[in-house]
Amino acid sequence: MADLKVLITRDQIKKRVAELGANITRDFKGEPVMLVGVLKGAAIFLADLSRELDLDATFDFIGVSSYGNRPSPTQELKSGWDSTGEVKLTKDVDQTLKDRNIIVVEDILDTGLTLNYISRLMQGHRPKALRIAALLDKPSRRKQPIKAQYIGFTIPDAYVVGYGLDYAERYRNLPDICVLENL
Ligand code: IMP
Ligand code: MG
Repeated sequence: MADLKVLITRDQIKKRVAELGANITRDFKGEPVMLVGVLKGAAIFLADLSRELDLDATFDFIGVSSYGNRPSPTQELKSGWDSTGEVKLTKDVDQTLKDRNIIVVEDILDTGLTLNYISRLMQGHRPKALRIAALLDKPSRRKQPIKAQYIGFTIPDAYVVGYGLDYAERYRNLPDICVLENL
């Protein structure tokens, strides 16, 4: 049986998300923004972050999956993952990105492969501005450099679940962010 140990409490998350919202509101100075959430992990973060914005905001969502046989998360933590770096789009945005202020909303920045792919894809549509908001960051695992302007928490190299993040699709509904131990 896997153990869950709280790493970041719901109160800490609420406070930090409010700070990120205030920073985004300040940076965009009354201009409209389009939030693009990466399914499914970012859904809860996007829902909370959007309500901390004092801006005219629209939502959209994209879906991505990794090519090749990415091993299970446990295996990946133990032995690493030899990725070709290929990510594919499984769901595209519904609205146009051109000349819009885009904020990509992601649950966690890990190797950087996913956000690198998404950033390049979106840049091709010539947005007015492109920013990245990631609730969590595991910099020790980075394989491709990526700059995120809004980061909630920097965490150590552990597998976390809750607040949208899953392990085999479970635990997304936990209100706190927890480390999954003894997998
Ligand atoms: P990257 O391409 O390696 O940066 O992958 C980021 C994606 O991997 C995130 O959007 C998550 O879906 C997933 N991921 C990475 N680390 C974790 C974790 O600790 N818990 C849950 N999902 C994770
Ligand atoms: Mg994800």
